Amino acid sequence: MKFLVTGSAGFIGFHLSRSLLEAGHAVAGIDAMVPYYDVGLKQARHAQLSRHAGFTPHLFDLADPGRLAEVMAAEAPEVVIHLAAQAGVRYALEHPESYIHANIQGTFSLLEACKARPVRHLLMASTSSAYGANASMPFRETDAVATPLNIYAATKLATEQMGHSYAALWQQPVTMFRFFTVYGPWGRPDMAMFRFTDAILQGRPIDVYNHGRMERDFTYVDDLVAAVIRLVDCVPEAGRRVAECDSVSPVAPFRVVNIGNASPVPLLELIAAIETACGREATRNYLPLQPGEVLKTWADTALLRALTGQVPATDIRTGTAAFVAWFRQHYGL
Ligand SMILES: NC(=O)c1ccc[n+]([C@@H]2O[C@H](COP(=O)([O-])OP(=O)(O)OC[C@H]3O[C@@H](n4cnc5c(N)ncnc54)[C@H](O)[C@@H]3O)[C@@H](O)[C@H]2O)c1
Repeated sequence: MKFLVTGSAGFIGFHLSRSLLEAGHAVAGIDAMVPYYDVGLKQARHAQLSRHAGFTPHLFDLADPGRLAEVMAAEAPEVVIHLAAQAGVRYALEHPESYIHANIQGTFSLLEACKARPVRHLLMASTSSAYGANASMPFRETDAVATPLNIYAATKLATEQMGHSYAALWQQPVTMFRFFTVYGPWGRPDMAMFRFTDAILQGRPIDVYNHGRMERDFTYVDDLVAAVIRLVDCVPEAGRRVAECDSVSPVAPFRVVNIGNASPVPLLELIAAIETACGREATRNYLPLQPGEVLKTWADTALLRALTGQVPATDIRTGTAAFVAWFRQHYGL
């Protein structure tokens, strides 16, 4: 099958593209190599993908509708998986405009491109941050989401609503993933696991926000990619619920699906797992809660199980050991 993957030089886009290529699919990857974090890491990921004959990279900004139309026409993908975005909660405090550009303008361009050339299934990344200040746990796809706590969450919620409107108007099937804190080899340098590992191995103190009183539902990247690939064949149909918990729209071929581990991990337990994998103890710098952060995330994965028969299950110690092993090897530390 022919896939178009946006954000193919990103952490998740790289893993997803590699899995698709290894399964014998063709992948056209779009990435603007945005310098939000080390572009060298993005180039190294694309270099790995380029070993496969089925991979075609396209380096441009998605918000350029002309280039996107050309690529859609040339590649004629059957399935589009949209992962390109400005991610990160902390960066959103200082650079809110980059979220409007990548997430709103970029997603709008992509929706217009799929309107001009419809695909069998358009799947797009949203986030657990969409649940914002929701206090009822675990988070269910059918919960009301109206309390985003930062501009990242607000733009991702907007992309969910844009996706619904295009699905309703143009009958383009759309699945939105709400990813829960994804980690693993080739991970993002701005995320806690990477920053903590780097600091511990180089003898620097780590910043522990809210004095460690936070929990995240950590999802190992291989589990997440397997779930994404299974969902490609779960094309939503308006009003056709597969289970009581289904979020499918009554009026559009549109569905939201959580992809998480369904087991929140306290921040201090994450640090302990990294310390064990590194064989060293961290020096901790305890700090107050950062503005825009949520205290806890926890995915209900009943819908993912109903749709695909499987859910992520890698435990934090196993996944952290795999990340630290990659990190040490990649950076020679
Ligand atoms: N990693 C997580 O824990 C997590 C959690 C929830 C949601 N998500 C979502 O999953 C998706 C992938 O995340 P990731 O962790 O791989 O992030 P990432 O930053 O590693 O990858 C995103 C890629 O998109 C590219 N990009 C950004 N703006 C672009 C534009 N305008 N045009 C073309 N390319 C552009 C970047 O260069 C980058 O390589 C994102 O949509 C993110 O919001 C990730």
